[in-house]
Amino acid sequence: MRNIISLCLLAVVLLTSCGNVEPRIIAPGEIWPDNNGVHVNAHGGGLLLHNGIYYWYGENKCDTTSSAMVGVDCYSSKDLVNWTNEGVALAVSDDAESDIVRGCVLERPKVIYNEKTGKFVMWFHLELKGKGYSAARAGVAVADSPTGPFRFLRSGRVNPGVMPLDLQGEEAKAKWDALDIDKYDKNRNPQAEEWWTPEWREDINNGLLCKRDFDGGQMARDMTLYVDVDGKAYHIYSSEENLTLNIAELSDDYLSHTGKYMRMCPAGHNEAPAIFLKDGTYWMITSGCTGWAPNAARMFSAPSIWGPWTQHENPCRGEGAEITYGGQSTYILPYGDNFIFMADIWRPKHPSDARYLWLPIQFDENGVPFLEYMDKWDLNTFKAVEEAK
Ligand code: DGJ
Repeated sequence: MRNIISLCLLAVVLLTSCGNVEPRIIAPGEIWPDNNGVHVNAHGGGLLLHNGIYYWYGENKCDTTSSAMVGVDCYSSKDLVNWTNEGVALAVSDDAESDIVRGCVLERPKVIYNEKTGKFVMWFHLELKGKGYSAARAGVAVADSPTGPFRFLRSGRVNPGVMPLDLQGEEAKAKWDALDIDKYDKNRNPQAEEWWTPEWREDINNGLLCKRDFDGGQMARDMTLYVDVDGKAYHIYSSEENLTLNIAELSDDYLSHTGKYMRMCPAGHNEAPAIFLKDGTYWMITSGCTGWAPNAARMFSAPSIWGPWTQHENPCRGEGAEITYGGQSTYILPYGDNFIFMADIWRPKHPSDARYLWLPIQFDENGVPFLEYMDKWDLNTFKAVEEAK
């Protein structure tokens, strides 16, 4: 009898407390005020969960230019809704000789924690001040605390003088040797042939631009980081004039590249990579390359980080799917058994007013991820608020 009464009491407590759970609303595209009531300024960003606290790192955007005038901002939160401004995690420099001098382009910072060294490691896409997007470098910085300050270590192209995994073997070597680097380069060859022909695609596939950049290192623009279940970390970035993604293994301390890397989807023209692992399958969502304007997302899956990667349909469904509801992917956050797709709605004329598009990732009956736009959804239920009521 006592047991039955206890069970009834427990049920009453549970029902009452369930009824009292405050919704935790995510509202894509709206102003997202921080603890000071100021719109979160962390664009092209990523999240890190450390000791029960979420840290959101992203580009500080000012009102008039997309160049980096401040650096990388950091916010902290326990519930993913209420964010405390932790200040500038990585500051741009006032030293004109620094790679990260104020006015450079510093984009898509991501931070991972290294269990072995106890350090927080940030990688980002860096363009040198005044050089447009030609430098195409990866930058790295390190900190003892998640909120920084991060110390800039260096920037550069990636894996100079190293052949990628997908271009090894006699046959690949013969095709590589036959590639003519000037063939499609209008700056170096007045008779240059057109891009986007089947022959050009074949040459890109065989490593034309990888060969061009072989000695100096591969171009590295839009990027993300991924720490796998075994603790190995990977730097995934748009390379070869944004035509080909590279997946490159990081060293044990996460501060450099090991030289092991593969090219993914050559001539696929992918930017904005974001990745997650579910039930043994790696899923990657990317965008096409249309500057700050939104385009249709792409999606790939693989049984291993090293592929083979298979392309799927656009994961977005419904109205606005062809432009990712106005956003461009930046990160995918595992959250319990769920995953949150995070994207930026850019405002290039007023960069600091760029908005955030966070949506729950849903899965169809075959386990394939998809997205549907929701005006407002609840982090407690992963459902649109209308459905959650
Ligand atoms: C698209 C990229 O995804 C952004 O990070 C930024 O580099 C813009 N292009 C610049 O046009």
